Amino acid sequence: MLSDLMEGLLLIEGPVVHAIEHGKLEHLQHAFILVDRSAQGKIVSVSHAPPSEPAAEHVRLHPGQFLCPGFIDTHHHAPQTQNMGLGLDWELLDWLQKITFPREQSYGDRTETDIRGEYRGMARRLLRAGTTTCVYFGSLQEPANELLAEEVFASGQRAFIGKVCMDQNSPAGYVETTEENLQNTVKFIEFIRSKQSNLINPIVTPRFAPTCSMQLMKELGNIALQQACHIQTHLGENKSEVDWVRELFPEHQSYTSVYAAAGLLTEKTILAHAIYLTDAEKQLIKEHQASISHCPNSNFALSSGCLCVRDLLDRGVKVALGTDVSGGYSPSMLDACRQAIIASKCISFQSPNQTPLTAAEAFSLATLGGASAINMSQTLGNIQPGKFFDALIVNVKSNPQIALADDESSLQTLFEKFIFCGDDRCIDAVFVAGRMISK
Ligand code: GUN
Ligand code: ZN
Repeated sequence: MLSDLMEGLLLIEGPVVHAIEHGKLEHLQHAFILVDRSAQGKIVSVSHAPPSEPAAEHVRLHPGQFLCPGFIDTHHHAPQTQNMGLGLDWELLDWLQKITFPREQSYGDRTETDIRGEYRGMARRLLRAGTTTCVYFGSLQEPANELLAEEVFASGQRAFIGKVCMDQNSPAGYVETTEENLQNTVKFIEFIRSKQSNLINPIVTPRFAPTCSMQLMKELGNIALQQACHIQTHLGENKSEVDWVRELFPEHQSYTSVYAAAGLLTEKTILAHAIYLTDAEKQLIKEHQASISHCPNSNFALSSGCLCVRDLLDRGVKVALGTDVSGGYSPSMLDACRQAIIASKCISFQSPNQTPLTAAEAFSLATLGGASAINMSQTLGNIQPGKFFDALIVNVKSNPQIALADDESSLQTLFEKFIFCGDDRCIDAVFVAGRMISK
């Protein structure tokens, strides 16, 4: 029986599928995974035979079930949850003005109960869909962001949460002065750290260059450095946006060099989209070891374009996947995997030398790639000793819509069915830091 008992050793026995490097999956037919729940839920050992230590709890997977690492969504806007599926006939800049900013602004007026309820539901649904780590943009308002942090914390999800910063080119009621943005960013970092949680972390969040002055971006770069924080922003998502940045920052070579000049490119920086980059910009990102969050659902939905992931990987740029709710209309990382594969096929139709992503590669981007993007590949992203046990028990047979031939239940078949046909019905249990938090 599974329980969420926190203490002692947990032993899980059964098949495992995980990425050991980009695009390279390991299929363990029958593994024993020993997890120490008292040591922040880290994996003690992965072996072919039962370990000698007695475990407080022993879980044997049923036929058809397998274990895989949890998904890492590297780009998600929490206050856009209610907008999913809305306004997607617009392109980015109109969509922001007409659909997105008004929704985010409403978090300044809504009641605490209302906001808590929405964020609670959001975190629960994401966990059920297998997102064990999520990198969130919050909104501008400090009180709503504190509620977001508290609800995500209570859900047990691992997360990075950022107070959005905007001090120019923003709607009258949805903007702060440079000083307010800075003060509230520091306040929010302190708020999150006061929780003394190993799971929730602050992330410095300039929305994107058009809505941030150079002074704001530089000061945010300093805060991230002083406070050893991650950074997230948007980059090169849409052609009109890129033109606008060129007009706003004419003294800089490129959109990416604006961020470099502000000190925002670090090994802990996540750049969402990054479709329209020159070779020099890709090189700059690689040199700073920053990462790109590929958000294919959003890139299609807002008619932004197709990112050539293969080119970035070939150049050694770190790439991960994001849902970009609600530019993306799906919160599912399985959807992100599928749309990343489709986007790569579209690219290969035009450029046959750019081979499409395989299912193994898309899954790698959603797990190990995500861990690397948040600079946590030493502790997250697959099922290896020393890493946190953030994992899913998958069972494609739990979804009656998925047809399987009687003689086809190899691990490879079950994995492929999960990637292409799966949804949250196929996830029997979700663990974060060794603790079962959703089933
Ligand atoms: N660029 C600036 N803000 C946003 C946002 O909220 N969503 C997306 N997709 N792009 C952005
Ligand atoms: Zn976004």
